[in-house]
Amino acid sequence: MTAIEKEENPHFDDFLIEWSTKFHFLVGGYGSGKSYHITLKTILKLLFEK
Ligand SMILES: Nc1ncnc2c1ncn2[C@@H]1O[C@H](COP(=O)(O)OP(=O)(O)OP(=O)(O)O)[C@@H](O)[C@H]1O
Ligand SMILES: [Mg+2]
Repeated sequence: MTAIEKEENPHFDDFLIEWSTKFHFLVGGYGSGKSYHITLKTILKLLFEK
């Protein structure tokens, strides 16, 4: 099996760890990584929470 490693875009650094608000709105052009980073954020939350 080959491991696939992907990196986050530093532009989303703060967004990935910010959970103080109920809603998150991402504004950006198509293909700018909005869906990618909200998915990554959710996965990270699931990994680090019990
Ligand atoms: N940090 C990253 N590393 C590797 N691939 C990435 C990264 N960010 C985005 N991508 C890839 O770039 C493509 C576009 O990203 P994404 O679909 O998240 O953009 P989007 O802002 O949601 O676009 P749209 O407005 O069209 O919905 C996808 O194939 C995604 O997997
Ligand atoms: Mg999208």
